[in-house]
Amino acid sequence: MKKITIAIDGFSSCGKSTMAKDLAREIGYIYIDSGAMYRAVTLYALENGIFQGEDIDTERLRQEMDRIGISFRLNPETGRPDTYLNGKNVEREIRSMEVSSHVSPIATLDFVRHALVAQQQAMGKDKGIVMDGRDIGTTVFPDAELKVFVTASPEIRAQRRFDELKAKGQEASFDEILENVKQRDYIDQHRATSPLRKADDALLLDNSHLTIDQQKEWLKEQYLRACREAEEKGNDATPENTPAL
Ligand code: DC
Repeated sequence: MKKITIAIDGFSSCGKSTMAKDLAREIGYIYIDSGAMYRAVTLYALENGIFQGEDIDTERLRQEMDRIGISFRLNPETGRPDTYLNGKNVEREIRSMEVSSHVSPIATLDFVRHALVAQQQAMGKDKGIVMDGRDIGTTVFPDAELKVFVTASPEIRAQRRFDELKAKGQEASFDEILENVKQRDYIDQHRATSPLRKADDALLLDNSHLTIDQQKEWLKEQYLRACREAEEKGNDATPENTPAL
């Protein structure tokens, strides 16, 4: 079957990574979590004194961008890709509260976005990729054969995060989580470079009232449909655009 490109964007904590990862594993595609790349740059900045308090030494970060090597390698234990920063596995560190609370300003820097978008496009040049993030369908792969924009109400997303924390035995206030979800939505949607928005040709998936299995089933159907359409387009060569033998 012809390989396609799948772009999955959406708000934070709406379950897009779970669904993207599971689809990629099932259909044998590469999975890239683009948020992990913004998190890895943030970790580099934190570890190398590029943050002074909340301020970023943007000139130093700009000069050092080509020293930040980000890659992904499959973890045989989890069956999922781990993130590496300059050869070191940083999957756990990039999910820390410290990185989470510093990543938004890093993700607004245009030179960071340009560098990471170029790397993401290189990773997807042979298709057969599922990438999730905020600007995949709009900026990274505007020609993706399948684009999905995932959303759920802020209350439902806050409840899911609240339940997750509770299951891990961590104390949390629902109101604080809800406030944080709303704040992150605002920052993502109002950034000057590549703000979060649904691409005109993306399918909207509101998963507020869907189970994970229902979501997965929906995505698989969309993938099969997009593949059929890509095959049909490929076979639909008119005489004038059919190359001469
Ligand atoms: O999905 P996440 O929470 O791991 O993303 C981390 C941060 O990176 C978040 O502030 C949004 C930002 N991001 C982005 O600006 N563009 C992307 N393609 C992916 C993530």
